[in-house]
Amino acid sequence: MATELEAAFNSAAQLISDTSKLVRIVLSGRRRNMTVPFERIDIRPVLIKGAITLQIAQNDGRVTTTKNIEAKDFDSSSYLEMGYANILVEHTSGALTIRITKKGEAQVHEEKGVREQNLEHDRKKSRLLDASDPFLIEVGISDSQGRVKPTKADKYLQVEEFLRLLVPTLNAAIEAKQIAKPTADKPLVIADLGCGSAYLTFAVHQYLKSIDMPVHVIGIDIRPESLKRNNEIAKKLKIEKSIEFRAEAIDQTSLTSCDVAIALHACDTATDDAIAWAVTGGAKLLLIAPCCQHDLQTQMSQVPEPWNILTKHGLMKERLGDLMTDALRAQILKLLGYRTEVIEFIGGEHTPRNIMIRAVLTNAKADSKDAETYKKMLSDWQIDPALASRVNLII
Ligand SMILES: C[S@@+](CC[C@H](N)C(=O)[O-])C[C@H]1O[C@@H](n2cnc3c(N)ncnc32)[C@H](O)[C@@H]1O
Repeated sequence: MATELEAAFNSAAQLISDTSKLVRIVLSGRRRNMTVPFERIDIRPVLIKGAITLQIAQNDGRVTTTKNIEAKDFDSSSYLEMGYANILVEHTSGALTIRITKKGEAQVHEEKGVREQNLEHDRKKSRLLDASDPFLIEVGISDSQGRVKPTKADKYLQVEEFLRLLVPTLNAAIEAKQIAKPTADKPLVIADLGCGSAYLTFAVHQYLKSIDMPVHVIGIDIRPESLKRNNEIAKKLKIEKSIEFRAEAIDQTSLTSCDVAIALHACDTATDDAIAWAVTGGAKLLLIAPCCQHDLQTQMSQVPEPWNILTKHGLMKERLGDLMTDALRAQILKLLGYRTEVIEFIGGEHTPRNIMIRAVLTNAKADSKDAETYKKMLSDWQIDPALASRVNLII
């Protein structure tokens, strides 16, 4: 076995052995000249009768069969060496990806970022937000009986999953002193940009208050009718001292800064306005789930070869434009000193707009290569992303 592959397997095995931090393992793809028993194997630690057990879900392309092996009896090397070409090991502070090339070489990628470990056996996630919470009834996600309305089930899950990412990221940033520990005198300032009916705004406020985190939450939306409705709800819930709304365009808001900027599906370039406003004000943490985008699609006329193979199909051109938009947003944030990741915050069945850009301000100086690849992308495609002109990017 090539030494670097052996070293990669050793690193993976070491991460897997610490089941207190292991989040999941995914094995997929087949190595050249090797056969694998299943198309994909997902492994995660679960707690069964007080013992950490590895739940192994094996999918043969049609059905998934599951078996459990006690952690102490789990032989990670037999799985790592089974013949899979792609190996992902996620743990609570990052992920290790190994891709084994046709030549049998290991391409190893390590990523930092908080992930949540869920040891529940039956995979039913416990809810952060109780459906009968008065705020969910007031905002119209739940009915008067405290049941999530079928028409709002997707929004409820989007908000839940958003929170599920926000909370550990926030705690990690506070622990790493990237965000000052909020106090009653200096609460954490969170801006929800393009808040609309404020499902997420209220959820963030109510959830963080419930875990005793002092917060001041501001929802910004251009529509005056949202302001009126949201203010009435805040009053009814008697929380108007720590949550407020402004009917303003994001790029002209009277709010000057925040600690944490969030945006869930702010339309098109409103997402760029949100990112630009947040970084200009020095926001420490951004969680941005973009919406539809048209900015780059309209600029993609000078297609560098051989990309025309994709762009000649309208559907693919649109998807490529979406991916390029978010990739460039992430790259700009990196160039501005943010540690940036792009993740799926919810399954695609709940919304096709399920990408989230998560960025923590570290002020790390980006590699000159990062600036070069960014500039090359813009010059090859003859594009000028909306975010670039909104931020002061000196490269
Ligand atoms: C698709 S909705 C999402 C609302 C909410 N975040 C949610 O997920 O339920 C987008 C919202 O962004 C608001 N919006 C769009 N452009 C804006 C801008 N430039 N400034 C402020 N709000 C904007 C719209 O009024 C709308 O309420």
